[in-house]
Amino acid sequence: MIKVEREAATVLVTIDRPEAMNALDVATLTELRDRLRELAADESARAVILTGAGEKAFVAGADIKYMSGLDVEQAKEWGALGHEAGRLLETMPKPTIAAINGFALGGGCELALACDIRYAATSAKLGQPEVNLGIIPGWGGTQRLARVCGLGVAKELIFTGRIVGADEALRIGLVNAVQDPVLDKAREVATLLASKSPIALRLMKELANRALGGDHAENLAAEGETFGEIFSSEDAKEGMTAFVEKREPRFSGR
Ligand code: HXC
Repeated sequence: MIKVEREAATVLVTIDRPEAMNALDVATLTELRDRLRELAADESARAVILTGAGEKAFVAGADIKYMSGLDVEQAKEWGALGHEAGRLLETMPKPTIAAINGFALGGGCELALACDIRYAATSAKLGQPEVNLGIIPGWGGTQRLARVCGLGVAKELIFTGRIVGADEALRIGLVNAVQDPVLDKAREVATLLASKSPIALRLMKELANRALGGDHAENLAAEGETFGEIFSSEDAKEGMTAFVEKREPRFSGR
């Protein structure tokens, strides 16, 4: 099951399937996709944290018992469902943070990669072991790992299926920081982000998502255009006025 808990403007989404190390079956992944859809549209949710219940696992991957019975068409649908969840994390107009406790393997690592920011507990173990099952990463791992860690690191990890610990994950840029308890770190940053202008965050996320693809000159032009447009927002006026008046800004999201 998926738990959704609110603390002011931040939302904690917990994947809770303890009998299978939070591995995702159809019911759990469908529920996750549905909750993420709701959160994407919910303006009162300013930052979203994704985590796994318990100490042992973030998500140990897609449910292998379920996958072992799939035919080609069913496998494509299964891939598409995970892609939907990943796209929501990657494109929802607010920051998403993965708080990685224990195993984040296969589809679990891929969901974390779809988040904007990743924090790991010292117990975290991340990797794409799909190759050991005779399959390939299917929820974004062949693309997003390279975007996050570079192509050379990504190819080594997806070809070998090697699992990395928290320290190596930090060194190769797979996670942004390592801290126990990892949820405290994720909450602290989510609260900080929720205090910033949601308009600025939405626009930065949209632009940053273009950074590794498309035409560089066009992307810079889009940044220039967007930079101008944001001057029509109350948040821009408030932010700059607060600086001049030597006080903290209070952003309204307008
Ligand atoms: C189904 C899983 C599971 C998974 C763990 N379990 N991972 N069930 N799918 N991905 C279940 C085990 O079967 C077991 O239940 C229970 O969780 C506890 O796991 P154990 O193996 O007994 O624990 P441990 O020895 O501590 O080992 C933990 C582990 C190992 C290292 C995480 O379970 C493991 O290697 N799991 C598979 C990891 C993996 O290959 N993930 C990638 C999947 S492919 P029972 O009832 O049997 O005791 C993928 C593709 C995504 O994610 C893209 C799809 C399109």
